[in-house]
Amino acid sequence: MEFKKDFLWGGAVAANQLEGAYLEDGKQLNVTDVMVGIANQPDLAWNRETGKWQAAFKQDKVYLSHEGIDFYHRYKEDLQLMAGMGFKAFRTSISWARIFPKGDETEPNEKGLKFYDDLFDEMIRLGMEPVITLSHYETPLYLLTEYGGWLNEKLIGFWMNYVRVVFNRYKGKVKYYMTFNEINNIFRMPFAAGGLLKIDPKDTGRPNADLSDQEIYQAAHYIFVANARTVEACHQIDPNAKIGCMLSLSSLATYPYSCNPDDVMGTLQFQRKQKLFLDVMVKGAYPGYVKRIWKEKNMEPVMKPGDLDLIKNNTVDYIAFSYYRSAVYKSDGSITVDTGGAAGIENPYLEGCSPAPWRWPIDPKGIRYVCNLLNDEYGLPLFIVENGIGLDENLDPDGKIADDFRKKYVKDHLVQINEAVKDGCDIMGYLYWGPIDVVSAGTGEMRKRYGFVYVDRFNDGTGTLKRVRKNSYDWYKQVIETNGDCLDSEMEMLHGK
Ligand code: BG6
Repeated sequence: MEFKKDFLWGGAVAANQLEGAYLEDGKQLNVTDVMVGIANQPDLAWNRETGKWQAAFKQDKVYLSHEGIDFYHRYKEDLQLMAGMGFKAFRTSISWARIFPKGDETEPNEKGLKFYDDLFDEMIRLGMEPVITLSHYETPLYLLTEYGGWLNEKLIGFWMNYVRVVFNRYKGKVKYYMTFNEINNIFRMPFAAGGLLKIDPKDTGRPNADLSDQEIYQAAHYIFVANARTVEACHQIDPNAKIGCMLSLSSLATYPYSCNPDDVMGTLQFQRKQKLFLDVMVKGAYPGYVKRIWKEKNMEPVMKPGDLDLIKNNTVDYIAFSYYRSAVYKSDGSITVDTGGAAGIENPYLEGCSPAPWRWPIDPKGIRYVCNLLNDEYGLPLFIVENGIGLDENLDPDGKIADDFRKKYVKDHLVQINEAVKDGCDIMGYLYWGPIDVVSAGTGEMRKRYGFVYVDRFNDGTGTLKRVRKNSYDWYKQVIETNGDCLDSEMEMLHGK
């Protein structure tokens, strides 16, 4: 295998999916705290008297993320488990609302900063690089209900206060940052992925029901400006740190259904919905294909003089991305997007998919394809910061979990990543999502388990929160220990060499 010596092996999680302690030590609500699954509607109600949205928790719903897996209090035990697999890196996010609980304060919350100080120190002590997402679907809710979120230019200033505090505080500790998790999901999930809320709704029942594409392009522009200013600030404050953009790029592995030019062109147009974000944050300019849309639909965002130069001069250092599955585009079929990427027509050439009810198609070659597309077009180092499989798992009577399916999924993807390395892609590392069971982002449930470590918690909120190593734990440990070489011998055994 050809993974480089300092390849960053490890795993990735997000604050809102595992920390819990959702109102502890000064933290206030963020967008994911009022949702059960980011693909669903937030639980907000329009208060006619105040003329504002407010959280409206439902009695009959279990908000599993409020307690998560209690990582906030158990992180030492959990990091020890990760270190036991030999992790070189651990990705998590900083919950913005722990540092600035409402988002618009001028002074940060010391208790929140202290939590991440201790967390990062512990990671470093255990030999893991902290890889930090500045916002993993975690905009403080108050910034949405009070300001409309990223529809409002003021958000850039609030965000910059937050990231400057972070860069100054963790200077020298954190070498790898990324800005907005899967920001290309803003069109499909504007509330959670984009932090957007129409503060003056026409339809008072459904938040964002009348949000237009033009408004999303406008919010995206503010986010691009914030991204560029963040890159600039990061480089100024901590010249040794590297900062990347983070996108959901399963959907780049969207294949045309046939050689019908409509399928081929439609696929290209669909891929461009993702590439737009790379073109701006990596190449530093809006591409022609989006300018055409703005012109024809009259939806060009308002820009300040200097915005485009700022974007041009402050591009990211690397591309971080998630990859879970591929999709097939058919011009007269349907294609949708969720946390795993795009879902189109069934691909008869793939061997299978994850078990029901999720049924995400499994396509290891798709990850090699995505790496190559990115390398050919953008030429930046690539960081695979999410790839994994969610399974419905229960402990065997002997207290174990034999997750061979997971081992095969990871092995097949790593083999293809190795091919991408051989193809010439500069791949910084592989962070498996999520090395310990966490609350699902898409559906808000515990049942969809990705971990090498099982957590005893269930959809109804019961469970002891006990951690148990699954069979894949020792296997992944061996993969890391041998820098991937054990996969080679596994492959040889498989092919009878
Ligand atoms: C990614 C997200 O899209 O997919 C993670 O960044 C998420 O937050 C992961 O957990 C898997 O999706 P899900 O819906 O299975 O949790």
